[in-house]
Amino acid sequence: MKKIIINGGNKLSGTINIGGAKNSAVALIPAAILSDENTTIYNVPNITDKKALINILETLNCNVTDEKDSLIIDSSKLENVYIKEDLSSKLRASYYFMGALLGKCKHVEIALPGGCNIGKSSRPINFHLKGFEQLGATITIEDDKYIIHADELKGSKIYLDFPSVGATINIMLAAVKAKGKTVIYNAAKEPEIVNIATFLNNMGAKITGAGTSEIKITGVDYLHKGIIEVIPDRIEAATYIIAGALIGDNLKINGVIEEHLESLLSKFDEMGIKYNIKDFELTISAAEKIKHTSIKSQVFPGFVTDMGQPMCVLLTQANGVSFFEETIYDNRMGHVKYLNNMGANIEVKDNTEIICGKTEYKGKKVKATDLRAGAAMVLAGLIAEGQTEISNVEHILRGYENIIEKLSNVGADIKIEE
Ligand code: EPU
Repeated sequence: MKKIIINGGNKLSGTINIGGAKNSAVALIPAAILSDENTTIYNVPNITDKKALINILETLNCNVTDEKDSLIIDSSKLENVYIKEDLSSKLRASYYFMGALLGKCKHVEIALPGGCNIGKSSRPINFHLKGFEQLGATITIEDDKYIIHADELKGSKIYLDFPSVGATINIMLAAVKAKGKTVIYNAAKEPEIVNIATFLNNMGAKITGAGTSEIKITGVDYLHKGIIEVIPDRIEAATYIIAGALIGDNLKINGVIEEHLESLLSKFDEMGIKYNIKDFELTISAAEKIKHTSIKSQVFPGFVTDMGQPMCVLLTQANGVSFFEETIYDNRMGHVKYLNNMGANIEVKDNTEIICGKTEYKGKKVKATDLRAGAAMVLAGLIAEGQTEISNVEHILRGYENIIEKLSNVGADIKIEE
């Protein structure tokens, strides 16, 4: 069991380079198998989710060349075998092999996906399955194994009850080679969706409207070579920007796309936190006085749920009472208990955190209950007096590339121990 140990209080200065977006990379890698030739994905983040996806590709007999920050994937000899639980349960995004294999082979056998346990009975995938059925597939669930099959996939009009990121991507993957035209209404608009659609279009797919709530896909028979660069990770960027607002000394975050982070930066303006942004680089120092505020998580371009837990640490440093309402997941409050152990005053009512600031944190033994809760523990540890010891760090390593190196390089006293 690994642990992260932080001795708090060190100012952070220098530059942190943001890696490729986890939530894009984990969909681009399965999407690659739709190509009938080979594909190259650049700027793939060095996270454990990447290794888990490569294991699945290799099980499917794909040839993967893993270079420093690129992956070359050749799926010309693909064998469509059952993706067993030991592979699929490593991460949530293993479910993108459903859409990709259904699109390519019209048949998939896969065990339940894994991932952070932050939603009702570990996050349903009913919208994905309904979309596959509307394209002509039949779904059989035997114990924890999904068998999805179509003699033929036919384009269809698909309305999503909620603009789900995963369902939008999975339906795009299944529909790119379907006969005729598919329209996804109430589609998710997150930047990651645009990244995936661009990759598929680079291979010869015909997708328009990605980034809006109506995506149109005209099926094609053949997908050729494709190249894509993973967009910068807006959640990783937000996490380090928040670190800068907490304890930065001219900390530079390189790889910031302002339009992806408007919801965070406009809150910073409201809270009186100063920053400069120029040419994809944001510079920030610890804010002297932070105004309290209210935030509600929403789908893009609203305040993304994934920033909620790191943001909670910043809200504990505001003077007065702040509110954070989580509207996407019903089990994303795992960080609260541990922040309170470290000295915070946070109460949770009806999925809303009521945060009384300002907190002086004391280092403690805490746990990363999920990925972003882990990021919140790291942020609290950076500003706490004394030593913070974080267990369950596998969650953090699934989504933050080289987090120890990135933070130590800018002055943090942080290390990982077995
Ligand atoms: N939902 C359903 N049925 C479905 C699909 C979703 O009820 O079939 C519900 C979910 O339970 C949730 C809401 O709809 O309440 C939104 O879920 P969505 O499908 O949009 O989320 P996701 O695709 O499972 C991705 C990211 C999450 C991120 C959300 C929202 C990946 C691998 N995961 O999840 O990332 O929170 O979109 O933006 O892309 C993270 O990075 O920490 C993370 C959890």
